[in-house]
Amino acid sequence: MRYDFPDNFIWGVATAAQQIEGGMRDGGRGLSNWDVFSHIPGTIEGGGVPDTACDSYHNLERDVEKLKELGVNSYRFSFSWPRIIPDGTGEVNPEGIAYYRKLLTLLKENGIVPNATMFHWDLPYALQVKGGFGNRKMIEWFLNYANVLLDNFGEDIKYWVTFNEPIATYVGNAKGFFAPGLSDDAYARQCCHNLLVCHGETVKLFRSKGFRDSKIGIVVDVWKHYPADADNEEDVMSAMLANETEGYGMFLHPLFIGGYSDYLNEYMTQNGVMPEILPGDFETIRQPVDFYGMNFYNVLIDDTEKQRRLAEEHGGGGNYQNRPEYHTELLGRVLREIIEEYRIDVPLFISENGIPQVGLTDRESILDDQERIEYVEKVLKMLHGAIQDGIDVRGYYLWSLMDNFEWSAGYEHRFGLYYTDFDTLELIPKKSAGWYADVISNNGLGE
Ligand code: BGC
Repeated sequence: MRYDFPDNFIWGVATAAQQIEGGMRDGGRGLSNWDVFSHIPGTIEGGGVPDTACDSYHNLERDVEKLKELGVNSYRFSFSWPRIIPDGTGEVNPEGIAYYRKLLTLLKENGIVPNATMFHWDLPYALQVKGGFGNRKMIEWFLNYANVLLDNFGEDIKYWVTFNEPIATYVGNAKGFFAPGLSDDAYARQCCHNLLVCHGETVKLFRSKGFRDSKIGIVVDVWKHYPADADNEEDVMSAMLANETEGYGMFLHPLFIGGYSDYLNEYMTQNGVMPEILPGDFETIRQPVDFYGMNFYNVLIDDTEKQRRLAEEHGGGGNYQNRPEYHTELLGRVLREIIEEYRIDVPLFISENGIPQVGLTDRESILDDQERIEYVEKVLKMLHGAIQDGIDVRGYYLWSLMDNFEWSAGYEHRFGLYYTDFDTLELIPKKSAGWYADVISNNGLGE
């Protein structure tokens, strides 16, 4: 059997500024929350810092060469706020603007459609010290930044994403293992609420510009948890907590239905962590968007007994939490349930999907990433089925173009289609790169 994707299907790869650019102090860039956080000993596995990362700041041609090799028709990247406005507010950095202008020119020359995220976790440190997202002034700061982006790059970008995975802001403020490294649940919920208002105000701003061909949306990752045993109350509660109070429900409910869910409201009231909500906030947050980007990595089956064991072995957090069990077979179900539950009536993208190679050190084994091929193949087959069933998924972005700075997991987790030699900054295709290029050129896969 063949798995042919619709005509005009978007095949892409995704990256993010903080994870690939490096050039931390180059071209007038300011510091980000992650620059500072990662330099605190003990925060990053293996002690890696993003100062140089893949050095994309100095190697744009190299990156675009690889995009061409793959044959992708779209590239999802993010803008670095501290590169555009080093102090978060005030002076705009012309070298920062020039860097992204050059990227957009190269993409255009090669017929690659840009999908750009305004915020993929790298907050100017100057704003972090003023409270970051917990400070309601963030709405003003963010809108000013968004306005600079829209005025400079507006219609040159077909797909604008306001925020990538707002949950990272929750994790960084409530769980401590992402920047800024705080452990304050109430503060974290205020940060997320303010972030959502920033999103809504940005959508309004975008609409006011009257762009004809550009679209705007948001990316919320879905790691749907199901109880291993529906009769085991601990498993059921664990899944509910992960989905509703510390997961996608915190965002999808206010974005698509309006307000927080009854369950979340009750939870926040009972735990004294209800954020301050101003009149009109929920209307702002629920601005109609043009698409929803779902980052999909895995489904988790909550077996509380087993989770306790894994947490002891691996520590908390990270996308490896239930490795090596991948429940790709549940992708179609997750898509259907999420669309139905949140009444999502706009087109979707799988805006990120991939797996890491963990703990491998020799290059040959890293290049031979058969496991990645098998995983992506399963995901694509499930996605094909979902599209056949009428789910409106317009594109797929593989995470990631190349091995890069994997946040708290440093450089130990390699997600790339290309192997990054962090000494020579060469990108070498893994087996999966050739495989993905074939999928793209065939607009699908066989068998
Ligand atoms: C994030 C990426 C990250 C990837 C793999 C997503 O959560 O958007 O920045 O590298 O997953 O962990």
